[in-house]
Amino acid sequence: MTDERTVSDDTTLAVAPDVNAAWWQDAVVYQVYPWSFNDSDGDGIGDLAGIIERLDYLEWLGVDVVWLNPVYESPQVDNGYDISNYRAIHDQFGTMTEWERLLDGLHDRDMRLVMDLAVNHTSDEHVWFQESRRDPESRFGDYYIWRLGREADPSVHDSTPGPPGRAPPNNWESHFGGSAWAWDDCREAYYLHLYHDRQPDLNWANPAVREEIYELMEWWLEKGIDGFRLDVINLISKPEGLPDGNPDGDWVGSEHFVDGPQATAYLDELHERVLSRYDAMTVGELPDVSIQGAREYTGPDGPLDMAFSFDHVQLDFGDSGRWAIGDWSLPELKAVLSGWQTGLADGGWSALFFENHDQPRIVSRFGDDERFRHASATLFATLLLTLRGTPFVYQGQELGMTNPSFESLDALRDVDTIRNVRMLMEERGITDYDEIRELVEHRTRDNARTPMQWDATDRAGFTSGEPWMPVNPNHREINVADAQARPGSVLQFYRRLIDLRAETPTLVHGDYELLFPNHESVYAYRRRLDDETILVVLNFDDGYTSIDVPGADPDATLLLGNYDDTTTPAGPLDLRPFEARIYER
Ligand code: GLC
Repeated sequence: MTDERTVSDDTTLAVAPDVNAAWWQDAVVYQVYPWSFNDSDGDGIGDLAGIIERLDYLEWLGVDVVWLNPVYESPQVDNGYDISNYRAIHDQFGTMTEWERLLDGLHDRDMRLVMDLAVNHTSDEHVWFQESRRDPESRFGDYYIWRLGREADPSVHDSTPGPPGRAPPNNWESHFGGSAWAWDDCREAYYLHLYHDRQPDLNWANPAVREEIYELMEWWLEKGIDGFRLDVINLISKPEGLPDGNPDGDWVGSEHFVDGPQATAYLDELHERVLSRYDAMTVGELPDVSIQGAREYTGPDGPLDMAFSFDHVQLDFGDSGRWAIGDWSLPELKAVLSGWQTGLADGGWSALFFENHDQPRIVSRFGDDERFRHASATLFATLLLTLRGTPFVYQGQELGMTNPSFESLDALRDVDTIRNVRMLMEERGITDYDEIRELVEHRTRDNARTPMQWDATDRAGFTSGEPWMPVNPNHREINVADAQARPGSVLQFYRRLIDLRAETPTLVHGDYELLFPNHESVYAYRRRLDDETILVVLNFDDGYTSIDVPGADPDATLLLGNYDDTTTPAGPLDLRPFEARIYER
């Protein structure tokens, strides 16, 4: 039971119940984006053998689990999220034997492997889709969502491809821009694709499709993996009749296909048939999920273990959504994160993150990557690793890697950015990239995808060849070799924090109490378990801030701070720019 109450105007308290901890609650996860992690064969693209070369580094860092972005056979239209064979490894990344060596290498070091699975959709090159389009009567005929479409309204200009006189069945949009429907000449019908037109959505309403998915998941679990990250898994159920969405919505149709009518039932079935038989962790990527929804998916009776939610990384969206820049404020960030902390206190579990392969670098986005890169990167590290939930660190985040710059549209690789930005330019009559450059550089997923910065040499130690994306020129200063050798580096701070979390159950399981919800610069909270109280104080300002924390104990011990010479609190805390402190008493 949650006991949520207002202690004073300035404090919100949520009491967490006793928990039966599962291994994945105590874990810290590290995300490896194979395209950009480490290239062993000089083709400029990272690979499995390259990851194996760096396993000692991950062990040294102290992480428990690796989440590996998709490495299955794929035409790579969306860098692996378009899977053409779920039981094979993509050539460029290596072989199944190398994948097995990777799994063994992780297990030998007491680390675990979580595979990334996209089963809302497949690649159009998957044999299921090839057969489905060729022959509606075949056993694959109903594996995807096919419709004949509507009769076109001659007064409405519709640029969707299709035969004259026909229009898509509804107004749903693809996340990558344009209609969510594409016309297939072979089958002479429209098929649904909530992402790229080369990523057709599977028809989960067909039990045979669900059966295929259960079998392939079991196949991987039998190979010894430790779990799945399930890509956009709350989009799998589309309502009967495929009704039109609100045309003014940010993602038209999403009110129908996010958490669709059967989503929970399908996932319950998946749990019963497959997941319940393994000690594996599942983390659902759940776009637009509500707190209540996440409680249902990840609570004690829910089918998944933990939820990625996105409210906190949408605070800087503008009025027209993702492809606009908006202002964010610290009280808003605190309200969102605290809402999730208290909302899941008595059921459900969060996957905590600030970065991943779809998000810009946090130090450039919400911190200060110029004057206070070290302090703001370590401040976000402190926040990430002292909240309740399972923290996910994205490759390079532990170095305080920053967004690069993109000189021209040709410098972009990400299909999402390329499509959406082209459409925006067309809509707004923009021909000069410079007019839209700020937005692109703020938002593009390519920000996260520049090669990992291993050392200060020309290609950052990532490859001996030509990297598929240029390395960020700041790799001369920001790189693993330097940071490992320098005691005060962002990397060393991450390592100490990961260690601290591992030995402090209060940080994982303790309750969460927000102090000063409306303070403009300071984010402070208490975590409490049994007799232990931990106080975390973070100054989000690039100037000095003084704050009097009620009940701050002069005998408290400073467990960790991101400035060298911090002492224990006696009286008000004088915080320096982006200063972070963790106290225990
Ligand atoms: C998820 C992935 C993203 C991908 C999309 C479609 O959001 O994180 O990279 O483009 O799903 O599979």
